[in-house]
Amino acid sequence: MMSDKKTVRFIITRQDNPNSDPYQEEFELEYRPNMNVISALMAIQRNPVDVKGNKIAPVSWDMNCLEEVCGACSMVINGKPRQSCTALVDQLEQPIRLEPMRTFPVVRDLQVDRSRMFDSLKKVKAWIPIDGTYDLGPGPRMPEPKRQWAYELSKCMTCGVCLEACPNVNSKSDFIGPAAFNQVRLFNAHPTGAMNKAERLNAFMEDGGMQGCGNSQNCVQSCPKGIPITTSIAAVNRDATFQSFKNFFGSDQI
Ligand code: SF4
Ligand code: FES
Repeated sequence: MMSDKKTVRFIITRQDNPNSDPYQEEFELEYRPNMNVISALMAIQRNPVDVKGNKIAPVSWDMNCLEEVCGACSMVINGKPRQSCTALVDQLEQPIRLEPMRTFPVVRDLQVDRSRMFDSLKKVKAWIPIDGTYDLGPGPRMPEPKRQWAYELSKCMTCGVCLEACPNVNSKSDFIGPAAFNQVRLFNAHPTGAMNKAERLNAFMEDGGMQGCGNSQNCVQSCPKGIPITTSIAAVNRDATFQSFKNFFGSDQI
């Protein structure tokens, strides 16, 4: 025990493989100023010993940018899904509880597989197709206010926090989750992206699309990037409804 020095306590949910049962381990680390959850996890990695002094397997987690841009380090910290790279120990109640996001399959410990998010981006064609076989020259310019608006939507880092917060995203539902709506709104608003607008909207009329949202509003409250997700969901639903009329009557009649 490090009783003389100031310490930080962690309770971490561990899981050895995707099919094994989770268990908890407790850690006590020496406090350092400006410590965040990742630096604490790194300290455990350097010295994988639990609070009782037992040597344990190092804890696994994902990280990349360390500045809340990539989304890889997302986990549930004291019950709240968020990025561990920006979670400061000084601002957290102790013991600090770390768990994996349960919306996604656990790979190991705090590491999850976010493939379902990338699969839904594929499903709704959240990209702009570009013929790369010849030089297309500069793309169309967006008016500055629209560019700024689009920039806010483009901040999504596919972190998965809004899916973890949404009660309608779970293993019993095929709802693609809030983030994909926002991406479709972004790409549909782009001058080149608008050419595939109908295709993207049609994907939302399938199972798991616009019917899946229960309007709990949890997503917009949880997004670390402050993305207006519920406004994006409403906008995409409106456009998809309009698209369904177009599909029914033929576009030239509307
Ligand atoms: S919309 Fe926000 S919470 Fe959802 S994946 Fe994107 S950045 Fe994360
Ligand atoms: S490591 Fe990229 S968001 Fe935390």
